[in-house]
Amino acid sequence: MNFLTNEKLVIVGAAGMIGSNMAQTAAMMRLTPNLCLYDPFEKGLEGVAEELRHCGFEGLNLTFTSNIAEAFKDAKYIVSSGGAPRKEGMTREDLLKGNAQIAAELGKNIKSYCPDVKHVVIIFNPADITGLITLIESGLKPSQVTTLAALDSTRLQSELAKHFGIKQSEVTNCRTYGGHGEQMAVFASTAKVNGTPLLDLIGTDKLTNDAWAELKQRVIKGGANIIKLRGRSSFQSPAYCSIEMIRAAMGGEAFRWPAGCYVNIPGFENIMMAMETSITKDGVKFAEIKGTDAEIAELKQSYEHLKTLRDEVIAM
Ligand code: LMR
Repeated sequence: MNFLTNEKLVIVGAAGMIGSNMAQTAAMMRLTPNLCLYDPFEKGLEGVAEELRHCGFEGLNLTFTSNIAEAFKDAKYIVSSGGAPRKEGMTREDLLKGNAQIAAELGKNIKSYCPDVKHVVIIFNPADITGLITLIESGLKPSQVTTLAALDSTRLQSELAKHFGIKQSEVTNCRTYGGHGEQMAVFASTAKVNGTPLLDLIGTDKLTNDAWAELKQRVIKGGANIIKLRGRSSFQSPAYCSIEMIRAAMGGEAFRWPAGCYVNIPGFENIMMAMETSITKDGVKFAEIKGTDAEIAELKQSYEHLKTLRDEVIAM
């Protein structure tokens, strides 16, 4: 079986739970033979590499290192889970202080060692801000950095499928914007439920306004719910979604999830893209984003929130 590309993919934080899951997923999806595991935690890393070898993935040329320069040399794709995870009772933003520093270093290392990288996925929290910091420090284009919108849009799809008692694949075109946290803007205007626009269902007895408001909250709090259920932060879904985004960036599934959710590559209107394309001297415009007036207003609010956070981080 062929690989999608021969270009180098680096998993940052590969000794951790999410990182090792990403590595296995990437190997199973046969993205590239050129898979490099990086983690400063040397011993754990060797263990993960050894296990992957025991899986016997055909044609895989696995390397691992605790040296960032070596890891990033010739890297074309990077996915990073290399920050502290959230614990019960914390918000994603509670992680900002420590993880902001890690994101800044990551961005600087990208600039120094692999400025020609094609795509980077950042998933450590608060993912929208850490992604933004990495973007700023690396000098990459907004379309080259993605965070966890694919996970959020899949959560929306899953919640809608549960609500209507249908298969997840019967819910399509789910989109979320505005960051991966409390300020997430969950849009209704693109999604379809069994072919019917979601907007036509909201406010009817099939999905009352109150039920829709609660459903949106379940999407926003999807990660906190996993912590409640597992006693620890999510690992399978962020690992899988981030590798799917890398696969999309490699050209495997252009722009779209197989399940019909929107992937933010490239041209996805995530908050970073919105910031790049829409800040003009006349103010902020979300020209590329289609939604109802209320949705656009919500997104503007979340943008302001992210901007404030970003300014705080820059001032640190
Ligand atoms: C998630 O949404 O599952 C991740 O961001 C982890 C978390 O702490 O919520």
